This record gives sequence, structure tokens and C-alpha cells, in this order.
Amino acid sequence: MLRFRAMRVDDFDGAILLWRRCEGVGLRDSDSPAGLATYLRRNPGLSFVAEIDECIVGSLLAGHDGRRGYLQHLAVAPEHRRRGIGSQLLSRCLDALETAGIAKIHVHVFDDNHAGRDFYQRRGWHQRSEIRLYSWVNGDNKNI
Ligand SMILES: CC(C)(COP(=O)(O)OP(=O)(O)OC[C@H]1O[C@@H](n2cnc3c(N)ncnc32)[C@H](O)[C@@H]1OP(=O)(O)O)[C@@H](O)C(=O)NCCC(=O)NCCS
Repeated sequence: MLRFRAMRVDDFDGAILLWRRCEGVGLRDSDSPAGLATYLRRNPGLSFVAEIDECIVGSLLAGHDGRRGYLQHLAVAPEHRRRGIGSQLLSRCLDALETAGIAKIHVHVFDDNHAGRDFYQRRGWHQRSEIRLYSWVNGDNKNI
């Protein structure tokens, strides 16, 4: 049976298996058990998974910095797509961010991920053409 629940630290193994199967999800060294634990501790109750028979088939990470919200790793197992799981994960995360007082939320989608871009655009998200994303890495790990 399909059910949704808040993501937990011990979901890492199931989540990483899912993320590896999903094109469009960029994985880095920070996608580690410790990285997920830090993220969930900083953003309790905001990220969700979808489970079928205790197997993770969908995920969405959500967090905020006190001002803006951010989504990452929206993923649904290929064999369970197009039945509303992605949309339900999205609405759960957006509700949780709204309850946390966050009005504006951003998501980064790879330029060549046309399906991912379409998914957000069809749900009313607008692409920002006036912004460029700049990144800085502290330390030597360019894969962080
Ligand atoms: C993007 C992604 C998360 C969507 O997940 P999903 O569970 O298929 O999403 P939904 O089922 O909610 O919606 C997908 C489509 O199926 C349709 N759909 C939903 N329920 C349906 C049903 N019962 N029957 C037929 N179609 C249905 C939706 O209308 C939607 O179409 P639309 O976008 O034209 O409105 C999934 O394709 C994925 O994991 N992609 C790879 C990772 C990725 O690109 N992530 C996003 C960027 S980080």
C-alpha cells in the first residue's frame, strides 16, 4: 500500500538506491548518511518519502534558511511514475514549508532535464531568467 511520511535519518539506504535510479538527480559526496542526518536535523519534518510495502519509491528533500525554502532530489521510481506520487510529495513539502513560515521556495533543475523542468512548470513554477547561480567550494573536494 502506498503511504507518505516524513523522511527519517534511517531512510538513507532506500533513498540512495532510488536516487541512483533516477535520471536528473545529481548525486555528490554530500549525499551520505551523515549528510542526510545533518540536513534532516536542520530541517525537521519538512522532507517526505513515499513508500510501498516499506520500500521507498519516492522522495523530496525540503529545507529553508529562515527566509527562502529549497527543494532537492525530487524522485519517483520509474515504475511508479504518472500516478501522482511526485505531485503529492511536492504538495506535502510545500505545506510543511508554509507552516514553517516560508513563503518563497526555489528549486535547481539541470538545464538538460526537460522532464523535470516541465514537471515544475506545469505546476505553476516559473523559470528565473534574470538570475545566474554562482557556487563556491570550501576545501578541495570539487564533488561535494
Ligand atoms: C519528475 C518526477 C518526480 C515526477 O514524478 P511522478 O510521480 O511521475 O509525478 P506525477 O505522477 O505527480 O505527475 C507526472 C504526470 O503524470 C500525470 N498523472 C498523475 N496521475 C496520473 C494518473 N493516475 N494517470 C495518468 N497520469 C497521471 C500528471 O498529470 C503529470 O502530468 P503533467 O506533468 O503533464 O501534469 C519523476 O518523473 C522523476 O523522478 N523524474 C526523475 C528525477 C527528476 O527529474 N526530478 C526532478 C528534478 S530534480
